[in-house]
Amino acid sequence: MLEPTTAANSFNQELTDHEFNQLSAFIYNESGIKLPPVKRIMLQCRLQKRLRELQMSSFREYCDYLFSHSGGDAEIVSMLDVVSTNKTDFFREPTHFDFISNTMLPEFMEGSRGGSFSAWSAGCSSGEEPYTLAFVLNEFMLTHPTFSYTILATDLSTKILQQAVTAIYPEERVTVVPMHLRQKYLLRSKDRQNPTVRIAPLIRQHVSFARLNFMDSTYSSVPADLHLVMCRNVLIYFDRATQEKVINKLCTRIRPNGYLMLGHSESILNMNLPLQQIKPTIYRKV
Ligand SMILES: C[S@@+](CC[C@H](N)C(=O)[O-])C[C@H]1O[C@@H](n2cnc3c(N)ncnc32)[C@H](O)[C@@H]1O
Repeated sequence: MLEPTTAANSFNQELTDHEFNQLSAFIYNESGIKLPPVKRIMLQCRLQKRLRELQMSSFREYCDYLFSHSGGDAEIVSMLDVVSTNKTDFFREPTHFDFISNTMLPEFMEGSRGGSFSAWSAGCSSGEEPYTLAFVLNEFMLTHPTFSYTILATDLSTKILQQAVTAIYPEERVTVVPMHLRQKYLLRSKDRQNPTVRIAPLIRQHVSFARLNFMDSTYSSVPADLHLVMCRNVLIYFDRATQEKVINKLCTRIRPNGYLMLGHSESILNMNLPLQQIKPTIYRKV
């Protein structure tokens, strides 16, 4: 049976091979994100939302707009917002946080006898990673009064950064956070129909957010003497040559003996990098 034509289905929802090739090359160039042909339907679905917002009736119209001088610059940011995959969690890959508490921070105290520990969550998504790190660093600070810390958190997507700054999460997302940390660092909403939590100001004040695209030629807006860079589950979206370039630029921001942590499925085997492996996915700058 034929469906009646409605406003929702009246536009051409199919992405042609040519449009897909044009868009994926453009996205690769702008963000490093590699979209092989198997990702075509995913791209089509994500961009359909954008077409509706712009009230455009075909992908051809959208491509003309994106690649034009008048629309292009403004649209790139919104397009990258829908194209990026932002899956994340509190205490994701928890062995990293155990390593920070049990090895990295005691070592930092021995070396510096206190002072400020500076970290970068590179590709921070909606903030779960930098806030988890802040919980861990704050706990350490409570038992080491000379210790302090700052965390910079960056992402490509302006939309996801807004969520991270707002720091409000559905309550079911924080069940993984240990109860004693939830009690100290999370504020519960009064609305019990739609229960949410907000990260407490005493944590938020240590975390600053900014937009940074890993494709930028240098990361000079980031301090160059960091003790820790977490860049987890980001490189998987890049090809190997881009991964190597990005990690080399990340290394320029890490102080000697500082640490880099990657996601558990990311490998830098046989890349030419100033890093020594300490544990799987944990590296030290040499
Ligand atoms: C899957 S999330 C990982 C979040 C977090 N690091 C974690 O492990 O849970 C990947 C993030 O990388 C960001 N990203 C992708 N390409 C990027 C680029 N070229 N520059 C900066 N961030 C990028 C995405 O916007 C997304 O939020």
